[in-house]
Amino acid sequence: MNTIIVTGGAGFIGSNFVHHVLANTEDKVVIIDKLTYAGNLSNLERAKDNPNFVFVHADICDRAAVDKLFKDHSPTHVVNFAAESHVDRSIDGPRPFIETNIVGTFELLEASRNYVDAGAENFRFLHVSTDEVYGSLGDTGLFEETTAYDPSSPYSASKAAADHLCLSYHHTFGLDVVVTNCSNNFGPFHFPEKLIPLMILNALDGKDLPIYGDGLNVRDWLYVEDHCSGILLALLKGKAGEKYNIGGGNERTNIEVVDKICELLDQFRPADQNEKMKALGKASYKDLKIFVKDRPGHDRRYAIDASKIEGDLGWKAAFGFDQGMEATVKWFLDNMDWCEEVQSGNYRRERLGLTTNS
Ligand code: NAD
Ligand code: DAU
Repeated sequence: MNTIIVTGGAGFIGSNFVHHVLANTEDKVVIIDKLTYAGNLSNLERAKDNPNFVFVHADICDRAAVDKLFKDHSPTHVVNFAAESHVDRSIDGPRPFIETNIVGTFELLEASRNYVDAGAENFRFLHVSTDEVYGSLGDTGLFEETTAYDPSSPYSASKAAADHLCLSYHHTFGLDVVVTNCSNNFGPFHFPEKLIPLMILNALDGKDLPIYGDGLNVRDWLYVEDHCSGILLALLKGKAGEKYNIGGGNERTNIEVVDKICELLDQFRPADQNEKMKALGKASYKDLKIFVKDRPGHDRRYAIDASKIEGDLGWKAAFGFDQGMEATVKWFLDNMDWCEEVQSGNYRRERLGLTTNS
């Protein structure tokens, strides 16, 4: 049986990964999470009585806490999800991105190196990263594992730095490290600052659906469960020192994504059954779309070539875009209590990421 430390396991993808591991393996998961605005224990509610589940409230930058975690649980694996993850927030305030994404990863790597030096065997460190490290594509082409890094936001620059640090620990110290770079995820527990959940919740409230710029920026969407299966495969079968891109081949413009959400809501919660839409006299959620000032430095297009993880490890996405979107919209409609709860802090779906000089 493996013992997997999952950092950031109370966030969107981390919590989905915890549920995925508990459902598909006999392994133990030990979560370390600082519970920032993006981390919510309610994401883990379903797992809390599982004997293979342990939660530790701590910061990955706190080296003593990380060392204690290694000492207490003797992990076979670390999967590092913990991060500041929202591009708009990295424009408003980059510091926590540097601290958690770079310094936090460094502390985890140092703790791992010492742990292996002290005799731990068969230990692996998997770092969960993003396609944004590669920068922005033109109209054609795909990100490959060999694509040169060219990050453009403080968020993606901090993730790029962490990727380089992780791979340097493999090359220099021989630490068993794997890095995965994934495209945009969507699904259950997605925090409502991000495009898809924000649009679902604003639409249900009869609020504007704010599309940045001309709405023609392209993202390559992947249902979160498929990202989790890719990470677990890379963790168990990937080759040390390798990078694996993960993506669904679902390129969509932001306008297409918002239109899809509106169509699903028109079907599942028609405007004439929604008091807020009736009060506005609007017949379709599409009537709520507005175009707003663009994100500073907004990357135009992302698209992943996932042929390496497909060919070498046999990974394949199980969910199509439409199927994943339908499941996601239904999940949000069925989990409005969760939506209320996670927004009970400071965040009220306001516009983020407009610097004063932009
Ligand atoms: P998220 O913002 O939803 O969750 C991040 C989690 O990390 C939260 O639970 C938070 O409390 C925790 N955390 C933050 N700082 C911490 C610290 N210093 N110590 C311990 N815990 C801390 O993020 P997400 O969308 O689930 O992304 C998870 C990872 O996947 C990130 O590394 C991100 O870069 C990467 N990623 C995300 C996407 C995506 O589409 N969301 C795509 C590719 C890669
Ligand atoms: O590509 C992977 C990345 O995907 C991850 O590394 C990040 O952690 C994750 O947040 C995501 O980054 P994006 O910036 O692509 O996601 P976001 O949901 O913020 O925005 C998606 C697109 O929608 C982007 O082009 C900006 C646009 N957008 C976003 C918001 C919040 C809007 O048009 N309106 C909005 O209100």
